[in-house]
Amino acid sequence: MNKKYFIKTYGCQMNVYDSHRIAMSLENLGYVKANHQQDADLVLFNTCHIREKAAEKLFSDLGRALIVKNERTENGLNTVIGVLGCVVQAEDDQILKRAPYVDFALGPLTYHRLPAILKQLETKHISGILDTQFPVESKFDFLPENKAEGGCSFLAIQEGCDNFCTYCVVPYTRGVEYSRPVEDVLKEAKKLIETGTLEINLLGQNVNSYHGKDQNGKEQNLAYLLNKMAELDGLKRLRYTTSYPADVDDDLIQCHKNIDILMPYLHLPVQSGSNKILKLMNRRHTAETYLEVVSKLKEANPKLEMSSDFIVGFPEETDEDFEQTLKLVDKVSYIQAFSFKYSKRPGTPAAVMENQVPEKIKKERLNILQNKLFALQNAFNQKCVGQTFEVLFEQKGRHKGQFIGRTPYMQNVHASADEKMMGKIQKVKILSATANSLEGKVV
Ligand code: 5AD
Ligand code: SF4
Repeated sequence: MNKKYFIKTYGCQMNVYDSHRIAMSLENLGYVKANHQQDADLVLFNTCHIREKAAEKLFSDLGRALIVKNERTENGLNTVIGVLGCVVQAEDDQILKRAPYVDFALGPLTYHRLPAILKQLETKHISGILDTQFPVESKFDFLPENKAEGGCSFLAIQEGCDNFCTYCVVPYTRGVEYSRPVEDVLKEAKKLIETGTLEINLLGQNVNSYHGKDQNGKEQNLAYLLNKMAELDGLKRLRYTTSYPADVDDDLIQCHKNIDILMPYLHLPVQSGSNKILKLMNRRHTAETYLEVVSKLKEANPKLEMSSDFIVGFPEETDEDFEQTLKLVDKVSYIQAFSFKYSKRPGTPAAVMENQVPEKIKKERLNILQNKLFALQNAFNQKCVGQTFEVLFEQKGRHKGQFIGRTPYMQNVHASADEKMMGKIQKVKILSATANSLEGKVV
């Protein structure tokens, strides 16, 4: 009987991608996916450390995993528990200390060593393996080939970050910036397309600082890579996430004019509309330079719509600073956004800054900002009613015969469809909308 694995993924798209690669390497070893954690011989938690809550959730999930493990032991079944990802990198040996029943813990740059570790566990009957190295080798060179799971795929092209925004743990958990070579990216993209992908989202913590080498060893930028991707036969949609505003160059802006498969939706986190706060955050843009980039992008593609991340209640943020954020939101008119209360991350400069904002004020500001963002999102969705969009169907809906797909603007669309349309692009006329999703009819 094949062993079964179960992976729970927290956090960002990069973690979703990593979990997919991990699943592929387990399937290569003969494991099959378990539908429930209770059935799994191997339980993995791929963790996120970006905000406090994510790590807390891990420890409560680990507590529950121990209960399941004990139940399985009573039934004569063995369970291996592993923790992966950014919490491991940040907490180091603390995870194994707090949860000694965890068999191994691997940071985000060492998960290619998983097969070797599973073998070690099996043959040597040891536990408590920890690997939080920043290895010299690239994990991408050691992972089995990536294959598509559906019509949409992520493809990591860049990892780590050298920006050191003062609130952020990423430079400490994912290490220094690393770009994969152009040919490696194209090879993985071709395989994804061959196995059914129509849409590829190129991922990186700071994706637009991509500087991978081409065949001649020459460093190339993201615009070069996007143009190469656009030449691939069979690729219908292209995206890239997440970009750093100060690194959006003219080449990249031109891509939004010239590459027709590049979707008209861009996630460009601004974090705050106050120049004082942006400076304290160590961001290399101001509200004005950000708005300038947005206007150049929209000039290149007038259909382009924006999304962003915001942090409210960063140390020293006053009501006036917060007002600046609200003003910027009005100017850009985002169609989607993620907003968070500032959360102190140990070891980052902002965690020890003076004038931390009280929780109550953070909550109030978040509420005001989210109401505004929600209204904008709703207004955009309402504007879509009556229009026809190309929708890439990705999953089954709750009702029989109902499927869920996405528009070029990443909105979820529910529509009655044929099973055969899964993983395919169909024209859908939008009949109604809420702030969170659209309802449509295949035309
Ligand atoms: N507190 C709150 N939000 C944060 N983010 C990153 N670090 C923190 C923090 N310490 C947010 C930023 C980033 C997104 C991925 O998470 O908005 O863009
Ligand atoms: Fe973190 Fe800033 Fe790098 Fe984004 S750009 S990963 S927020 S340090």
